Amino acid sequence: MHKRQFLSAIACASLALTASTAMAQDKFKIGLILPMTGPFASTGKQIEAAARLYMAQNGDMVAGKKVELIVKDDTSAADVTKRLAQEMVVNEKVSVLAGFGLTPLAFATAPIATQSKTPMVVMAAATSSITQASPFIVRTSFTLPQAAVAIADWAPNNGIKKVVTLVSDYGPGIDAEKYFKDRLTFNGGQVLDTLRVPMRNPDFAPFLQKVRDLKPDAVYVFVPSGAGAALMKQFAERGMDKAGIKLIGTGDITDDDILNSMGDVANGVVTSHHYSASHNSPLNKKFVAAFEKANNGLRPNFMAVGGYDGMRVIYEAAKTTKGAGGQALLDAMKGQVFESPRGPMFIDAQTRDVVHNIYIRKVEKVNGQLYNQEFATLKDVKDPGKAR
Ligand code: PHB
Repeated sequence: MHKRQFLSAIACASLALTASTAMAQDKFKIGLILPMTGPFASTGKQIEAAARLYMAQNGDMVAGKKVELIVKDDTSAADVTKRLAQEMVVNEKVSVLAGFGLTPLAFATAPIATQSKTPMVVMAAATSSITQASPFIVRTSFTLPQAAVAIADWAPNNGIKKVVTLVSDYGPGIDAEKYFKDRLTFNGGQVLDTLRVPMRNPDFAPFLQKVRDLKPDAVYVFVPSGAGAALMKQFAERGMDKAGIKLIGTGDITDDDILNSMGDVANGVVTSHHYSASHNSPLNKKFVAAFEKANNGLRPNFMAVGGYDGMRVIYEAAKTTKGAGGQALLDAMKGQVFESPRGPMFIDAQTRDVVHNIYIRKVEKVNGQLYNQEFATLKDVKDPGKAR
C-alpha cells in the first residue's frame, strides 16, 4: 500500500469510527431483560408490551436522542440474566438496565449495575431487600411487605383469626410470610403453621391437605405471578372452600393476567395489592383500553404497570440529564412523583423504592368478567421492610 493510500484508509476508518460513535451518542439505549419463555413468560410478555405501549404513546425520542429498547430473554435463569446484563453494558453501552422478572434475577445483576454505574430499574421483582443490593437500583414494582401487612390488618377485623400461611420458598414468599405473621400476631390473630412450597413446579396437593387438617379460618397465599391458577384449581378440587376455609393473600394470586380463567373458585377472594386493572381512574381506564387494543385484548396486570411506570421514570430522568447516563441519570430518577395507572406514586429518594397506595380488593363479576374490585385504600405505603 502506498503511503497516500494508507493515510486515506486511516482517515476513512477514523471517520467511520467518529460516525459510529456519534450514532451511539445519538441513541439512548435501554436494555430490557425479562423471562420471555418458560413458566414466568407472562411476566416478560406483560412488561415488554407495556414498555412498547409507553413508547408508542410518548414517542421514541428523548432529549434529542432516539430511544432504542433492546429486549432479551433470560429464560428466568439468573446466570443468563447476569451475562445478558454484562453484554448490554459492555457491547451495547446501554444507559439503563431494566426488567428483572424474579428476585434471584435482580440480585444476580446488582453487582453489574454497581460496577458499571448503570441505573437498574426493577420493574417486577418484589423482595424488600433488593434495593439494598446496589445503590444503582430503583424499583417501580412493589414490595411484598407493603401488601402483606395490609391484608394482615384487614383479616382479623373480618372474622379471620386463625390462619395457615402457604408461600413460595424464596425471597418474596419469605417476606410475604414474615410480615403477615408478625402483623397478624400483633393484631391478636394466630398463625397455626407456615408452609413453604418449592418455587418451581410446585405440587400444592400435600400442602393443601395439611391446611385442611389444621382447619384454619383461612389460608394466606403468596405465589409469583403466573402460578396462581394452578393453586386455585387445586384449592377448588380439594373442596377447601366447601370445607369453610377462606383463601386470602397478596394480589399476586388473583393476577389480572389469568384471573378471568380461574372460574368461580376465585369469586369473592380478598387480597391486598397496589394495582387492579379495574382501578377507577381516568388514567387507568385509558391505560387498560390502549393496552388491550395493542395486545389482542390481553388484560394488563401489575407487572405491566411496573414496566409502564419504569419507562416513565427512565424517560423523565433522561429529559432532566439531557440524555446523560450514570450517576446523573440515577439521581434524576430519585424523588419522581407522578400519577400511575395504579394511582399516585413516588420513588423515595432515600431508599430508591416505590411508595404507593395499597388497596384491599375482592374478586367480583363485572359484566361477566372477574375483576379485583378495590374497596379500601391505604395511602402512600412505604416499604415496611426498610429500616426506619
Ligand atoms: C419476585 O420474584 O420477586 C416476584 C415474582 C412475581 C411476583 C412477585 C414477586 O408476583
